[in-house]
Amino acid sequence: MAIERFTNVLPYRKQLARKQYVSDALPPVLISEDDIRRRVSELAEQISNDYADHGDIVLIGVLKGAFVFLADLSRRLTIPRTIEFIAVSSYGAGSESGAVRLVMDVRGNIEGQHVLVVEDIVDTGHTLSYLIGILKSHGPASIRTCTLLHKAERAEVDVDIDYVGFRIGDEWVVGYGLDYAEQNRTLPYIGIVHPGD
Ligand code: IMP
Ligand code: MG
Repeated sequence: MAIERFTNVLPYRKQLARKQYVSDALPPVLISEDDIRRRVSELAEQISNDYADHGDIVLIGVLKGAFVFLADLSRRLTIPRTIEFIAVSSYGAGSESGAVRLVMDVRGNIEGQHVLVVEDIVDTGHTLSYLIGILKSHGPASIRTCTLLHKAERAEVDVDIDYVGFRIGDEWVVGYGLDYAEQNRTLPYIGIVHPGD
């Protein structure tokens, strides 16, 4: 009985979802769901190959923005891995810059472990360079970095990024975990917004 009711409701929910997709309020697409899916698979393959002889690795997702990317990337790896999170806040409510602040450190012990930091986006590089400093103080065996997006022309700090999904221009992007004032994190694609609109 319960299963019947559930299947009846599915087409209706799909219709609703489709309506939301064509709404004018949605940000224009910069990177489509398909392109993201393909690139995340490529990254996962590359990382799995590079770490093939390293034993377990620890993926450290940077909250909140990296939660979607980390979920997809981690599930496509073919190497043993564990998951940790670290939280920083680098901006105010919108897109204005500000000092980087540690909100939550990793909970597990990463001493002697191979660490891969997973970021949603590297903009000026301040956040990632600050994070690397904190993580190094925990004494891992190695630290590499992976970001879905990189605004290379905005770089202010020289920071090594080992894996980059896409290089993008100087635009504010949302979706696939990224927000503007906490909005649009759960969009399935990367879209462009104009802060201040
Ligand atoms: P950075 O310290 O300037 O490199 O900034 C990195 C952080 O700023 C990212 O982890 C994001 O949280 C945020 N950020 C930078 N650019 C964007 C964007 O276009 N959309 C959403 N968040 C962004
Ligand atoms: Mg981030």
